[in-house]
Amino acid sequence: MIFGRKHRKPITIADKKVVEWKYAVCGYCSTGCSIEVGLNDAGKPVASRGKGNAPVNQGKLCIKGIFEHELSTTSGRGTEPLMRDRIYQDFAPVDWDTALDHTAAEFKRIQEKYGRDSVAVVSTGQLLTEEFYTLGKLVRGVIGTNQYDGNTTLCMASAVSGYKRSFGADGPPGCYEDFEHTHCLMAFGSNLPEQHPIIYWRLKEALEKRKFPLIVVDPRVTMFAQFADIHLPITPGTDLVLLNALAHVILKEGLQDQRYIDAHCSGFDELAATVEKYDPITASRICGIDPDTIRHVARIYAKAPSAMSIWTMGINQSTHGTDGVCGINNLNLITGNIGVPGGTSMSITGQCNAMGTREWSSCSGLPGYRMLEKPEHRKEVAEFWGVDEDFFPPKRGLQQTDIFPAIESGEIKALWIVATNPLTSMPNQPRIKKALEKLEFMVVQDGYRDCETVDYAHVYLPGALWGEKEGVQTNTERRVNLVRKFVEPPGNAKPDHWIFTQLAKRFERGRAIPFPESSSDIFDEMKQLSKGEGRNLDISGMSHDLIEQQRGIQWPMREGDQTGNPRLYSDGVFPTANGKANLLAMDYIEDNEVPDTSYPFWMNSGRVVEHFHTRTKTGKIGNLNKFSPTPYMEINPDSAKEFGVEHQKYVRLVSRRGDAVVMAQLTQRVPRNMLFIPMHYHDCVNRLSLGLLDPYSRQPAFKQCAVRIEHVDQREAARLNVERRAF
Ligand code: SF4
Ligand code: MOS
Repeated sequence: MIFGRKHRKPITIADKKVVEWKYAVCGYCSTGCSIEVGLNDAGKPVASRGKGNAPVNQGKLCIKGIFEHELSTTSGRGTEPLMRDRIYQDFAPVDWDTALDHTAAEFKRIQEKYGRDSVAVVSTGQLLTEEFYTLGKLVRGVIGTNQYDGNTTLCMASAVSGYKRSFGADGPPGCYEDFEHTHCLMAFGSNLPEQHPIIYWRLKEALEKRKFPLIVVDPRVTMFAQFADIHLPITPGTDLVLLNALAHVILKEGLQDQRYIDAHCSGFDELAATVEKYDPITASRICGIDPDTIRHVARIYAKAPSAMSIWTMGINQSTHGTDGVCGINNLNLITGNIGVPGGTSMSITGQCNAMGTREWSSCSGLPGYRMLEKPEHRKEVAEFWGVDEDFFPPKRGLQQTDIFPAIESGEIKALWIVATNPLTSMPNQPRIKKALEKLEFMVVQDGYRDCETVDYAHVYLPGALWGEKEGVQTNTERRVNLVRKFVEPPGNAKPDHWIFTQLAKRFERGRAIPFPESSSDIFDEMKQLSKGEGRNLDISGMSHDLIEQQRGIQWPMREGDQTGNPRLYSDGVFPTANGKANLLAMDYIEDNEVPDTSYPFWMNSGRVVEHFHTRTKTGKIGNLNKFSPTPYMEINPDSAKEFGVEHQKYVRLVSRRGDAVVMAQLTQRVPRNMLFIPMHYHDCVNRLSLGLLDPYSRQPAFKQCAVRIEHVDQREAARLNVERRAF
């Protein structure tokens, strides 16, 4: 008996005539997939494939990785430095010396006139770690402004603040391998299959071998929620209430791991007193999850031999994002689920090297998770770099979200933007535009000339992109992985670390400190600085070649170790003053903009699988952009009927900040009182968003504000939309 068609027509893949494969780690999301890029005999990247036997992805890639080689031919790249006297004038191409001399002179002039901190630097999660380290040295040791931050404040800042408050230091303690061991997984505000497809694939693999409960907390019925055993459609911004209620049930029913708490945690009594107030019935009135479900989930989680939590922006992008993170950490500490196989508190990070910037860029202090506030850290770094310790500011300065208001108030006069696009990514875009117009001097350093923020620059510096330079990135599970250089940057574009090093030479202090030029020399310097008694962020056992050989290595890997370590805090010792983790007692405070009669909908935002961040790259890759070319909103069909909205017709959304025109997609994924908009499009969601800040992390609450629907002329809207797409 023969099964199948008689005349088979198997899919054939065109021969790309690859003559050499080059090793890299993906440059989009923080999953950290190992990729090989195929070059043809002209040295042109023509194919991408997942690297077999790589610990993260075992040869798999998501749609973004599969087309990543196409980046090298995308439109809109910058090929020459550009300069102009005033914004809105035409740029003139200049050589690097002119652009860098002028930039250094302007920074010096402005610092002399208005003070050291009148120049601000906003960086990214996109550079290589060696580049972050070099930029940090330049900003902290040479330019000496304290207004220095990364765009990671829009994304992971709450996770960082939460880890520091609970455990005493940043650093996700778990790993993907924990899926293989866990007996329960609870995800908060994470749409894993769309945002981190290969992490999701790892989870699926684990679930196919051994079933365990999957609980998803999300206001929207995301793809992940659809695959869950239990979905908790929480009221936006109320995670802390749910987390306190889960702790309430666990303590009421005596399900906690008291032995672990007594040995490794402080603050138990205060926590117990606070969560006492959050009984499931009271909590359910705020967070919208019924009391029985709260009790049920608490029991499943606490009774599981091991249980783990993962989270993404649904927790972090909230007015109490840091409290939400600490609430998750509380949950795992009281159930003894930290540092054990299958038991962890894992933030799933966003950008490919969001971790690298946290670890080494000195944005939040000094390199290697060191802090400006700690005298011993200041001393170590000052001696290592050969700078005067007093040159470092006493404590961390403004974060990205406070830098823009400081431009409005006139405190900051110059801004240097490195590989990020705040005009599209910051909340309340109308306000950001006005702030940028006010600057005396702005430099944008980016791979793309057509990145929207360049419209407000006086100087544009063209940077090299993925595969046009060599260096490392750290993924969500602390795995350091390598991108080899496989193609030249276009025209006169330069690697970012070259730009930093050249700029350093234009300052007296920069000539006094050594700035190594090759990526592996910089890596060696970081290795030296990473060593130390009791330091977890230790990479001294690694090298670029060893990283490629092992296809990524997790820190800590100390000198002499054969490989890295999958988990932190397995010994129950935490980097706090008394070595114990902090249980934190936190009350919920209602402080969001919520829907009312004039603005009856919650606006929620998030990502789609085809796009990355502000589409600077993915908007130009045909096989990605064609699936999601149009700014749209999800609306529940019942609400659509009530408000006269038709499927695939345009509407105007209005908030107290501004308006945006989007296409309607009718779907049951959102409840009746909510609209969901992908965050990727320019002139879209952030014309509406409010972005109230978390008090600890200064991260904006992108996902919670109120909007109303208005009708628009369909032809006018379509025309606007075509203009917007014209890349
Ligand atoms: Fe790249 Fe993330 Fe996709 Fe992996 S899952 S290929 S790291 S975008
Ligand atoms: Mo993030 S998108 O981890 O900076």
